[in-house]
Amino acid sequence: MSDRRLTFKSEKEGKDLPLSLTPAMAKVPEAVAEKVVAQPKPDSEPSFRSQHQMENLQPAQPDLRTVWGAIEETSLNEKLLKRNRIITAARNDPAHIAFDVLRTRLLQALRTNGWTKVAITSPTKGCGKSFTALNLALSLSRRDSSNIVLMDMDLRIPTLAKLLGVKQPQNIRKYLTGRQPMHKYLQRFRPNLAVGLNDMPVQNASEILQEPATAAMVAKMERDLRPDVMLFDMPPALGCDDVLAFAPQVDGVLLVIGGGKTTSKEVEEVERLLKDQTPLLGVILNNADGVSIDQYGSY
Ligand SMILES: Nc1ncnc2c1ncn2[C@@H]1O[C@H](COP(=O)(O)OP(=O)(O)O)[C@@H](O)[C@H]1O
Ligand SMILES: [Mg+2]
Repeated sequence: MSDRRLTFKSEKEGKDLPLSLTPAMAKVPEAVAEKVVAQPKPDSEPSFRSQHQMENLQPAQPDLRTVWGAIEETSLNEKLLKRNRIITAARNDPAHIAFDVLRTRLLQALRTNGWTKVAITSPTKGCGKSFTALNLALSLSRRDSSNIVLMDMDLRIPTLAKLLGVKQPQNIRKYLTGRQPMHKYLQRFRPNLAVGLNDMPVQNASEILQEPATAAMVAKMERDLRPDVMLFDMPPALGCDDVLAFAPQVDGVLLVIGGGKTTSKEVEEVERLLKDQTPLLGVILNNADGVSIDQYGSY
């Protein structure tokens, strides 16, 4: 039994920061431990990227305030968020500190490399990807000077609308196929936090994620919204090829592992799968004790 439990051994362990929990966090059942390490993005030249980013800043760009201002703002339902364990909204649960630490380490790793786009995945379902994505997005958006975008890219089991209490979310397929403009599709939950939700599972998820139109939508969001961070809440990396299909669109991946759930073999499998696709920015140990995953669909 004990060898099924996670003892995380990374191939690159020698270089990584040690996985650490402060004693205060360790006492909190929802605690999240993290290590964020930047690795070079395969096949990408930093000088080329910065030149590319410069091109994106040409004067033809629409005014940033106008673009963000066109997105409707909805207020956060703090009571519901608390029930859904989104602790970074009200910040009275001490576990929110773990997300603030993760936020800061992530920002440092992204800035060092000039990156913005981060996919959040896990080996299997129920490890806390959506929980992490939303908590992290809210923590990031606490800094008024940062613009943050969060997208529900788990096309098979969309969750973020439910967590946020949005009863009639937009349809992501319509947006990704160009039938819904960006400002009508996105919703703001804070002046600097734009979220892309989804109302129903999408057929052919993996194919849609590989479409040039999807890549174009991501590029447009990056160009027009100029976010400091774009988080993509993804499906699990094992069991379907959606993460692999979307990997070319992101700068790196955060891997959420479920404490007492994810095995070291699964972590190694994900590392192998993503190795030449996109850098692993960090591994987050999410201590989701007593989680029932029976209610979830299958991939
Ligand atoms: N650290 C945690 N503490 C308590 N509950 C958690 C924690 N992480 C996740 N959960 C709960 O576990 C369930 C699955 O989490 P979710 O984020 O939807 O997983 P995934 O997106 O990886 O499938 C949800 O009900 C969520 O509220
Ligand atoms: Mg999820």
